[in-house]
Amino acid sequence: MSIRPQRPAPATPAPGKLPITELAEMKTRRQPIVMVTAYDAPGGRLADQAGADLVLVGDSAAMTVLGHDSTVPATMEEMLILTRAVTRGASRPLVIADMPFGSFQVSDEDAVGNAIRFVKEAGADAVKLEGAGAMLSRVRGIVDAGIPVMGHLGLTPQSVLKLGGFRVQGRGERAAAALRADAIAVAEAGAALLVLECVPSALAAGITADSPVPVIGIGAGPGCDGQVLVLHDMLGLDSGHRRPRFVRDFLATGGSVAGAVQAYVAAVRDGSFPSADEGYD
Ligand code: KIV
Repeated sequence: MSIRPQRPAPATPAPGKLPITELAEMKTRRQPIVMVTAYDAPGGRLADQAGADLVLVGDSAAMTVLGHDSTVPATMEEMLILTRAVTRGASRPLVIADMPFGSFQVSDEDAVGNAIRFVKEAGADAVKLEGAGAMLSRVRGIVDAGIPVMGHLGLTPQSVLKLGGFRVQGRGERAAAALRADAIAVAEAGAALLVLECVPSALAAGITADSPVPVIGIGAGPGCDGQVLVLHDMLGLDSGHRRPRFVRDFLATGGSVAGAVQAYVAAVRDGSFPSADEGYD
């Protein structure tokens, strides 16, 4: 009996936009998914040229670009301008627009209307929103409108006031069980992807194993289906805030801005980023 060798994962990206369905297949193949943030057209182009799968126009722009102390002040109009710029630079990667604080918390109608603005006015391929609970009906509404949604759990920076600071989430049995349940609920509401931020590595690996949709980690250890890092962090740009332990300065190894993004993409793909030390217990 001859055993057919497994087809290797494609080494080079296909021309054209990455189909969102490919991400679920990457999870099945255990092929790491790479996401990076960008806030302008050159950033989108750099991510594209480096071979990233997903570009997140994060509301982290409020801190990295606009100089605020948190993501809370980001507005729809600012995020639309930034998303529009990134979509001009990034062709192959899916561009995901982060729904800013206030753009989806009040009602399903607001959430769907603002998600539609990101797609129609800024060319986004998907939107991301933080939270579970009351936010699950927002996820359902946006997905029903035909727009892919990325959920975001763990440290949800828009709730920094409620969380009492930027802290690791899901520590302790009750908190871990609640996070596991939220991750399943977000996927069942229709989200195509999930970000887990600042979660103990073992918990994140367990959630990833149970999740029907790809889980992208940041400060969530090496056991996720993919990773995301803030562009300004991987370039070692000083944000005026303490550098979290999951941040690696890729400019040091990459040698240039383009080289840094390439080094990051390569390190996620070959599993060398993040290391065990770049996560939380
Ligand atoms: O805004 C952002 O950059 C994010 C990532 C940290 C996931 O939400």
